[in-house]
Amino acid sequence: MKSKTLFYCTECGNELPKWAGQCPVCKAWNTIVEQPSEAKKKGIQNLSNSSIIRKGNGNRPSPIQEVETTQELRFETGMSELDRVLGGGAVKGSLVLVGGAPGIGKSTLMLQICDHLCRFAKVLYVSGEESERQIKLRAERLQVRGDGMYLLAETNLEDVIESVNELHPDILIVDSIQTLYNGDLSTAPGSIGQVKDCTMALMQLAKGQGITIFVIGHVNKEGSIAGPKVLEHMVDCVLYFEGEQQNSYRILRAAKNRFGATNEIGVFEMGDSGLSEVPNPSEMLLSGRPQDTPGTCVTCVMEGIRPVLAEVQALLAPTSFNVPRRTANGFDFNRTNLLLAVLEKRGGLMVSSCDAYINVIGGLFLDEPAADLAMIIALASSFRDKPVPGNLAAIGEVGLTGELRSVNALSQRLSEVRRLGFTKCLIPARTGGKLDPPHGLQLIQVHNIREALATIV
Ligand code: TYD
Ligand code: MG
Repeated sequence: MKSKTLFYCTECGNELPKWAGQCPVCKAWNTIVEQPSEAKKKGIQNLSNSSIIRKGNGNRPSPIQEVETTQELRFETGMSELDRVLGGGAVKGSLVLVGGAPGIGKSTLMLQICDHLCRFAKVLYVSGEESERQIKLRAERLQVRGDGMYLLAETNLEDVIESVNELHPDILIVDSIQTLYNGDLSTAPGSIGQVKDCTMALMQLAKGQGITIFVIGHVNKEGSIAGPKVLEHMVDCVLYFEGEQQNSYRILRAAKNRFGATNEIGVFEMGDSGLSEVPNPSEMLLSGRPQDTPGTCVTCVMEGIRPVLAEVQALLAPTSFNVPRRTANGFDFNRTNLLLAVLEKRGGLMVSSCDAYINVIGGLFLDEPAADLAMIIALASSFRDKPVPGNLAAIGEVGLTGELRSVNALSQRLSEVRRLGFTKCLIPARTGGKLDPPHGLQLIQVHNIREALATIV
């Protein structure tokens, strides 16, 4: 019989009967790869017969009243920014996937937390990317003492599991999932079948033996290897480590967390001796802010329970195309277009004949409507080529009629604005409650964007 082939998207794991340039589900381009279905079947058979996977253990359904609820056991990782993103520390017996572009600092982060983890747990660090010697040298450079830490340079899944069964570590770190492979499968390491299979086996280890497992996964734009997206549904937590190569700041965010919220971020700085935590992200995000320059405005957004100041930049220039160009980095594209339309119709600025480029500094993504007003001000400031006063911040949601709407957690935001040295803040007139502004901060309350623009630019 002719063996059938199946196709997969390496980004989202979607299966297709035939090849396509673009994945119909996640819309990524050039991510569809071929996978012989026979090998896949063989893989599944092997998986179910293999000793790696626990056999059915006769579990029976139990009435919900009889299920015991004990708090999940958590432990700190020694990096409070990481603990915050995990929802207050790592949960015992959970599997955490740490994704990010190559070279962003995933191995560094994992090695650094070992220093703390080793003090109370047995840690096994498995690397398929570096030799034991290389890891040790790096650990020395990072000043990770690591008493009670074990290193293993291995890529074969069965050998890794054997080592785990011998050593009984409390914490297992796997660097990276793309280098691990199950010899029973005919596909290459890093292929979709392999990463899924290996993750499944690690998940069984975590749940079966109560081992906390951190797995590193490379995010690969070219799609030649299967990325962490494919694994998101299988694991307990997915953290993404992001940042720009040219600056030293890194943001860690949770894309999924079975044991906590996903709206917290952790901020780190990469330096000569590894990653250090940035407990005050606002300061970092505002460092190097241009003064007396048109097209920038500061706002305050909530990242989880933490207020963080962010700088919104806009550049408007007369277009030389039939349809003006618009790009938005760190801000929702549709929201940008909407705000441009509101600015034209309700603010009276003829921005439809302009190209508009939006950028949020520092790799933040502002998905909160509270950032609308700052965007409107930055756009207007660029359009009129007049700078916004450097001591002013703007907070507020903008509605379709140009009205300003109140935002949540306003007092917290105002305190943060004041803490960073701002003396004026533009906010909606109606705030939905009594306001007690921090000392030294002048509030300018406006009803709509026309009023806001008249006050500022
Ligand atoms: P690494 O943790 O190896 O990245 P990943 O595992 O995500 O691929 O980090 C590699 C980068 O970090 C590399 O560009 C060098 C830089 N780096 C520092 O700047 N300082 C340091 O102390 C270390 C260990 C790495
Ligand atoms: Mg690495």
